Amino acid sequence: MTKFNTLLVRGGKPDDNHTGAVNVPIYNSSTYRYPKLGSDVRWDYERSGNPTRDNVENVCAELENGDRGFAFSSGMAAIHAALSLFKPGDHLVIGDNIYGGTFRLVNDFLKPRGIKFTAVDTQDLQAVEAAFTPATKAVYFETVTNPLLKVSSVKQISRLAHQHNAMVIVDNTFLTPYLQKPLNLGADLVLHSATKYLGGHSDIMAGIIVTKNKALSDRVYKLQNSIGAVLAPQEANLLRRGIQTLNLRMDRHISNAKKIIKYLERNDKVGRVYYPTVDKNSTDYAIIKDEARGAGGVLSFELKDGLDAAKFVNSLQLIILAVSLGAAESLVEVPAFMSHFEIPKQGGWKWELRTS
Ligand SMILES: Cc1ncc(COP(=O)(O)O)c(C=O)c1O
Repeated sequence: MTKFNTLLVRGGKPDDNHTGAVNVPIYNSSTYRYPKLGSDVRWDYERSGNPTRDNVENVCAELENGDRGFAFSSGMAAIHAALSLFKPGDHLVIGDNIYGGTFRLVNDFLKPRGIKFTAVDTQDLQAVEAAFTPATKAVYFETVTNPLLKVSSVKQISRLAHQHNAMVIVDNTFLTPYLQKPLNLGADLVLHSATKYLGGHSDIMAGIIVTKNKALSDRVYKLQNSIGAVLAPQEANLLRRGIQTLNLRMDRHISNAKKIIKYLERNDKVGRVYYPTVDKNSTDYAIIKDEARGAGGVLSFELKDGLDAAKFVNSLQLIILAVSLGAAESLVEVPAFMSHFEIPKQGGWKWELRTS
């Protein structure tokens, strides 16, 4: 672990422009001079590459033990780039409880362009297996889902997918490489909304992709450069700074979450509490113990029947009513009215794929 913690602070082999600066400067230049026509230059235009962004991309690749990192202007931009690896006629198996924005991208943007999807509970390996078709090119899922904190196995899904010659794409926003490294467990591409734990301070939007091998890196690089939703150098610097304290923040998130869970479990107005390690007999617990070092800082709970969720959240003094997660301040939300308001109210927070 020392190596990981050292990489958080010192990773990315900073290119300091020979000044000795311990941090990579913010290179505020959208374009770069060619010494002469035909020169083989390392940097030419910011969309194709920027030393500040390059540094944080390298840090992320090292933290995930991957081939190459790519930084985007938001988590959704990273997801869009990853899903742009596919073409009309390709089929993907996706988790049925993925982030709502991702679901919107699938339903409203990718499906009308001819990419096919089957949504399944990715904790149910038989359902995953049954969803493969000869056209299946990938399985896409979140390791820990929101708001029920259900855990899916990267190891087992990767084994299944590779038997079907499909790749595995994991959104690991909820765990981060500090708690889990999906590429080591068999995934081919890991991505994050770095707006959350990696940035860590609710002051930037960012997305990260890390790839397993060079062939995939080359394809993602082309997409990043073609689509163009790259992370700006100022934001790349803030992301680098956030990442330096990821380990300390995650440890505190987890210990705070456990204290809050204890408090809620003792409170007779609170019903079920959701967190992967609460039920030691659950599949969630078994997978977290086997594949991760901890379950992160997000928990959810139900108030007992008849209690008013609006009154509860409106009465909180310190905890802020807002969507998002993973920063220094504590947030609370009511998913049915906020992050998940588009989901049909019955059926366990599952999205419904449109049929056309
Ligand atoms: C799990 C997950 N993935 C992706 C996203 C999208 O990221 P962003 O808001 O940075 O575009 C979010 C945002 O909440 C998320 O929670």
